Amino acid sequence: MAGAFTSFLSGMLLCGLLLHAVFKVDKPSKKPNFIIILADDIGWGDLDANHPEGKANNTPYLNMMADQGLRLTDFHSPASTCSPSRAAILTGRYGLRNGVTHNFAVDSVAGLPLSEVTLPQLLQKVGYYTAMIGKWHLGHNGQYSPTNRGFDYYLGIPYSNDMGCTDIPGYNLPQCLPCNGSETQRNVQGGCYSKVGLPLIENSSIMEQPLDLWTLTEKYKSAAVRIIHNARERGQPYLLYIALAHMHVPLAPPRTPSAAYHPDDIRVYSASLRDMDSLVGAVKSASDDTDKDNTLIWFTGDNGPWEEKCQYAGHVGPFIGKWQTNRGGGSAKRTTWEGGHRVPTVVYWPGRIPANTTSSALLSGMDIFPTLLSLAGMTPLSDRCYDGIDATNVLLYAEQTGHEFLFHPNSGAAGKFGDLQTVRTGRHKAFYITGAAEACGGATGRQQLHDPPLIFDLERDEAEETPLKVGTPEYQAVVERISRRREELLWDIATDKSVSAADYSTDGSAAPCCDPRQAVCRCPTRLGKIRSIKPQNS
Ligand SMILES: *[C@@H]1O[C@H](CO)[C@@H](O)[C@H](O)[C@H]1NC(C)=O
Ligand SMILES: *[C@@H]1O[C@H](CO)[C@@H](O)[C@H](O)[C@H]1NC(C)=O
Ligand SMILES: *[C@@H]1O[C@H](CO)[C@@H](O)[C@H](O)[C@H]1NC(C)=O
Repeated sequence: MAGAFTSFLSGMLLCGLLLHAVFKVDKPSKKPNFIIILADDIGWGDLDANHPEGKANNTPYLNMMADQGLRLTDFHSPASTCSPSRAAILTGRYGLRNGVTHNFAVDSVAGLPLSEVTLPQLLQKVGYYTAMIGKWHLGHNGQYSPTNRGFDYYLGIPYSNDMGCTDIPGYNLPQCLPCNGSETQRNVQGGCYSKVGLPLIENSSIMEQPLDLWTLTEKYKSAAVRIIHNARERGQPYLLYIALAHMHVPLAPPRTPSAAYHPDDIRVYSASLRDMDSLVGAVKSASDDTDKDNTLIWFTGDNGPWEEKCQYAGHVGPFIGKWQTNRGGGSAKRTTWEGGHRVPTVVYWPGRIPANTTSSALLSGMDIFPTLLSLAGMTPLSDRCYDGIDATNVLLYAEQTGHEFLFHPNSGAAGKFGDLQTVRTGRHKAFYITGAAEACGGATGRQQLHDPPLIFDLERDEAEETPLKVGTPEYQAVVERISRRREELLWDIATDKSVSAADYSTDGSAAPCCDPRQAVCRCPTRLGKIRSIKPQNS
């Protein structure tokens, strides 16, 4: 049945039609709760359960979720960098349609285009309480903030945790090691401090700025547990989207009384990974204690590890992008090599998703949108094209059919942002453009166009080392199918009336600031001048 259905689909146009198909889903009578946990910059290899030999023990709670749920081994973030990936998850659409093709800045005036309709906006319409905890990075200014984009409640930081302006962007650990003195001693300006120039926002107010990164995990944990319990008490179905600060630098692993981590300490990453896992464990147990059989938890990542961060970066597992690394440069975050977008993914729903199962269906973070809508008994909007597919049958009924074709957009390693430079179908992956990110040590590669495309067989060559020989029957068969579908999709997007455009302009006054006398509100601009900003919130 699945096979017949797939070939029926492949004969149709691409746009918007997949979602209107009727699947053999028996709709739960009660609306399920949804918890999406999105880790930042996590590597496929960071999940212990992805390693059959099982040497590491950094993710015990996630391993337990995999034992009691479904591990998706061929699941891909919709982009290889932050904002585009998050935009595609929340809209079910490629960046070329939703407009978000690269990251927003601290002083971005806008964000995810207002013409886009988000997953929480739709779930609110069918009675869901919607809450978000964590990193938004889809525009924090005014009407672009989470509470104006479908969330009833928000607690978190508006962008990446290295975008605090008291430190150099891209720093790896807070510049001062944590002190063991009193809170007042610690925060003396010019002395040792443990806070970073980030705002912590609740709904639309700045609650704390600068922010103590070391207490963030606990703040997120208690907010998540409170949201889960309160929703249960009200008897209201909920969507809780938790976009973790982990595993993005700066890493702030729990301090131990005996020792603070030295910046060179190679244990920093695994300590932070365990810290992240403990947060996942707290969310799982709050959910298990309240509405266990009626709650789906979907854990995944926004893109691969930030390789240039060396010992502070995660692990790609076997997906090392060898063709690229042989020529110089990194092959993870920001690239379309597997390490850039194949992310560790576990879906857990006791009693509904068969326990201790694994699927290698080809899926994407864009599929979360149509899948959750379908489970909530809702159809998506008919006025726009979606790129995600309803993966309900993979989750609940062990079906193996995912995307027949999946495109990976350029996220900054080569060429134009958002361009669909890599196409996946079955075991094959074709590169029309290759490019590298910065590797640990600073090496970079150059962009290369490939006509005919490079095609790798990921089943034989998961490291993407040796492309198929051009002209062989295997190559010919794949290249014809892929090229045809790529042309169709590009035409489809070029003629799509529902495409949005994001405004990427910046203005100092858009940077969140609670007090103009604060050092964090008087940051040097790119021109090196000190600017002063009027407070946006009291
Ligand atoms: C945020 O909104 C919630 C209602 O959803 C409210 O209970 C809470 O007090 C608000 N917090 C702030 C700081 O406004
Ligand atoms: C804590 O501070 C005291 C006094 O400054 C110092 O003697 C001690 O070594 C510090 N301990 C650690 C673990 O840094
Ligand atoms: C999960 O399945 C594997 C074999 O597929 C088995 O070895 C393992 O014991 C199972 N784990 C649990 C918790 O049932």
